[in-house]
Amino acid sequence: MLVSVNNLTKIYRLGDYEVYAVRNVFLNIDRGEFVAVTGHSGSGKSTLLSLIGGLSKPTVGRVKIDGVDIWELGDEELSALRNRKIGFMFQFSSLLPTLSVRQNMLLPASLAGADEREAEARARELLEQVGMEHRMHAYPWQLSGGEQRRVAVARAFMNHPELILADEPTGDLDEDSEALVMRMLRRMNREEGTAVLLVTHSRELAEQAERRLVMRRGRLLEVG
Ligand SMILES: Nc1ncnc2c1ncn2[C@@H]1O[C@H](COP(=O)(O)OP(=O)(O)O)[C@@H](O)[C@H]1O
Ligand SMILES: [Mg+2]
Repeated sequence: MLVSVNNLTKIYRLGDYEVYAVRNVFLNIDRGEFVAVTGHSGSGKSTLLSLIGGLSKPTVGRVKIDGVDIWELGDEELSALRNRKIGFMFQFSSLLPTLSVRQNMLLPASLAGADEREAEARARELLEQVGMEHRMHAYPWQLSGGEQRRVAVARAFMNHPELILADEPTGDLDEDSEALVMRMLRRMNREEGTAVLLVTHSRELAEQAERRLVMRRGRLLEVG
């Protein structure tokens, strides 16, 4: 089991008002699975992804990645696990503005102590898949929003992650970029066995997954 989520609950406290963003969620994801999550806005999808990715601490419950309880790890161990095993894709590009496309791509590999020549080759190959290899030396501000997102999508695969956490990665992208991002997710899932947990508004995109879940007011339900 790659991901094992046990009774996960996140409560945000705002004064004496409490928001149950995620409620008693149980979820197992196998290696190589492609899972889509849909649900209304505010239903807890982003919170769930950030809990699983170790970006936000659960109020109750456990997240195990590869059998390791991630919230038992120290900060440094947790960052290392995140960098090596998880690729993140957010709705908004998260490229570092002071680094070129190439440098943005190489950073996760360098943090993981990867071989530099292999990392260069990997970066080039991934950028080719999103049609951005010709912009290796551009800075994020020289790219359109859609192009930045395509680079961010490619970058998520740099360290051969076992799990991709994608939070509406195609939200407000044009159709061509959307198709390209989905093609890349499916291809890496098939060819490298990367498990994908994809949050999307689109039913049509969700149908491309082998397993579909829906979030309703913090609860996670399996669909058909
Ligand atoms: N940092 C926060 N502080 C307080 N409430 C939050 C915070 N983040 C999210 N929420 C609330 O938690 C609920 C779930 O939010 P979110 O996970 O972003 O939903 P979704 O991604 O499905 O739109 C919402 O009611 C939202 O207002
Ligand atoms: Mg969200």
